[in-house]
Amino acid sequence: MSENKTINTITPLFSVEVIEKRISEIGKAISDDFDMVTQDCPLLLIVVLKGAFIFAADLLRTITIPCGIDFIHASSYGSEKTSSGSVSIKHNLSITDRHVLLVEDIIDTGLTIQQISAELISMKPASLSICTLLDKPNARKHPADITYTGFVVPDAFIVGYGIDYNERFRALPSLGILNS
Ligand code: IMP
Ligand code: MG
Repeated sequence: MSENKTINTITPLFSVEVIEKRISEIGKAISDDFDMVTQDCPLLLIVVLKGAFIFAADLLRTITIPCGIDFIHASSYGSEKTSSGSVSIKHNLSITDRHVLLVEDIIDTGLTIQQISAELISMKPASLSICTLLDKPNARKHPADITYTGFVVPDAFIVGYGIDYNERFRALPSLGILNS
């Protein structure tokens, strides 16, 4: 049986404590900005699967205003560390007249968030804002109007805290750069 001898090292970027502190700051900002929402019409977090699921779970618990959650599945990366240039989007959402906050793990070229935003806007939400844990501005090819950013990161391949490489490293509690 052949053995995969590839060894990946990870350069630490953000610790558990740093991530937790930053998320509580974002949760407070969101709670302040959306204080117009009510129990009858709560803020709707739409989590971009799969990478944002751990971030969204922690973020949701720092938000103090009425807030619901739903999910959209997007995949733009295959097995390599480069964008495939096309995005597959799957959802079963109903968002007309809702205040929507898209929760994404990483905005890289901007293609994924641009395509998701266009699809959601066509469904006529009351408002649409974007929150991303990580922003890679140096990789941007498509403009993205981001309201809440956890951390600005270099144009490197990041893993951990829900973010994977070929389904590996999602369970790492902190964030780091994957060295190949
Ligand atoms: P974009 O469409 O180029 O902005 O890519 C966005 C998506 O690609 C993100 O939501 C991630 O799922 C994935 N992605 C981009 N950069 C990385 C990375 O450094 N690590 C893991 N996934 C990434
Ligand atoms: Mg993503």
